Amino acid sequence: MDSLKVQGGYPLRGELKVQGSKNTVLPIMAAAVLYKGVTVLTNVPMIQDVYCMIHILEAVGVRIIFTDHCLALDASEVRAAEIPLEDVKKMRSSIMLLGALLGRLGEAATSYPGGCSIGSRPIDIHLESLRAMGAEIRDDGSRIRACAGKLHGARIALRFPSVGATENILLAAVMAEGVTVIENAAREPEITELCLFLQKMGARIAGAGTGTIRIRGQSPLRETGYQIPGDRIVAGTYLAAAAAAGGDVRLTGIYTPYMTAVLDAFRRCGCQVSWDREAACLRSERRIQPLSLVSTRPYPGFPTDMQSPLMAVLAYGDGVSVIEENIFEGRLDCGIQLRRMGADIRVEGSRAWISGKKELYGACVEAGDLRAGAALAVAAAGAQGMTSIADPGHIRRGYEAIDRDLRMLGGKIWW
Ligand code: EPZ
Repeated sequence: MDSLKVQGGYPLRGELKVQGSKNTVLPIMAAAVLYKGVTVLTNVPMIQDVYCMIHILEAVGVRIIFTDHCLALDASEVRAAEIPLEDVKKMRSSIMLLGALLGRLGEAATSYPGGCSIGSRPIDIHLESLRAMGAEIRDDGSRIRACAGKLHGARIALRFPSVGATENILLAAVMAEGVTVIENAAREPEITELCLFLQKMGARIAGAGTGTIRIRGQSPLRETGYQIPGDRIVAGTYLAAAAAAGGDVRLTGIYTPYMTAVLDAFRRCGCQVSWDREAACLRSERRIQPLSLVSTRPYPGFPTDMQSPLMAVLAYGDGVSVIEENIFEGRLDCGIQLRRMGADIRVEGSRAWISGKKELYGACVEAGDLRAGAALAVAAAGAQGMTSIADPGHIRRGYEAIDRDLRMLGGKIWW
């Protein structure tokens, strides 16, 4: 059976360039549908979710060439075809096509998206927001059909700063008549990067990265090239592996101002952390200090995507740490698998109490979702003996080559 194997006990040392960002490239790929011509993206990670998004875009008529991290998308001819159900079920980002196709064509048909099993993940905020812009959306809880004679600008106050909903509104608003104002918008770096891409394409957007974003629609768009930034969560994952296994690593190809909360957490864990704008260094003697409370929050708070990898590090802590998950209700399940490696983790509601242990032990475990799978590799890197991670397809969705990368740093890991 397919599994990722890790022989623990090898410190990580050396320098590594981090792959491009999954959560940045996916909405930008959807945004390429807005322009009736060519968009070229570089530093694109060669991960399952990108291939899935390529399949979705080809189904609606986009012609795509993807070689060696460079993605060329020709959206000259786009049609309101049904988005393939098997792709929609695999990946939450398929919902981005709703805003993009409504903006480009005035109609879209898709289904409720799948993706990681980390919570209920409704799309009510997406649908309410697009309706506020004039879209007529029929939704039977499974299939979604949307049409809009003409999208118009609106003032939209989000009840929660949803990353995906903010992205969907941005894509629709760029093509809508008039001004759209998003209040309580998500402030994640992925929003900032999407806005920078759209501005480069010709869109008029103000307030990127703040809680209020203003978009004046229908400006002429143009052929655009854009470099995808490094993946801040993949970088955080590799720093976590070095913290757990011990060692001294330097990661490049990232924009560290996007990682402040994560770098600060590792420093508070007792690691020696330093950084400049485009590289981060972490040195660990494997003496992990407990953290009294880490609460996941919308950006600039501690990111939910780093919660499981941090849990894996704190499993080695010298005392009791507490993690509170405030974004996805099903995202503490990684603790169940870590317990199979000897970790002492108790979960109650949205909190996990982690009583650190000097050693964890290799075991047969299972990746429940993308980041939980990566967290198991983090824990395994510091464990005694061999760990086998089943169902590693989840990891391949977001990590281009976690085996190649950690081996380059001295880890013993292979598929
Ligand atoms: C994006 O998911 C990311 N995915 C997630 O990364 C990330 O964890 C999340 O943002 C938060 O940062 C991609 O970018 C592809 P949300 P998204 O909408 O857009 C609730 C990974 O591991 N909500 O901000 O789905 C929702 O249930 C993935 O790379 C509604 O209630 O996140 C959740 O509790 C996992 N109604 C909260 O908001 C809605 O209509 C945050 O969701 C939408 C969201």
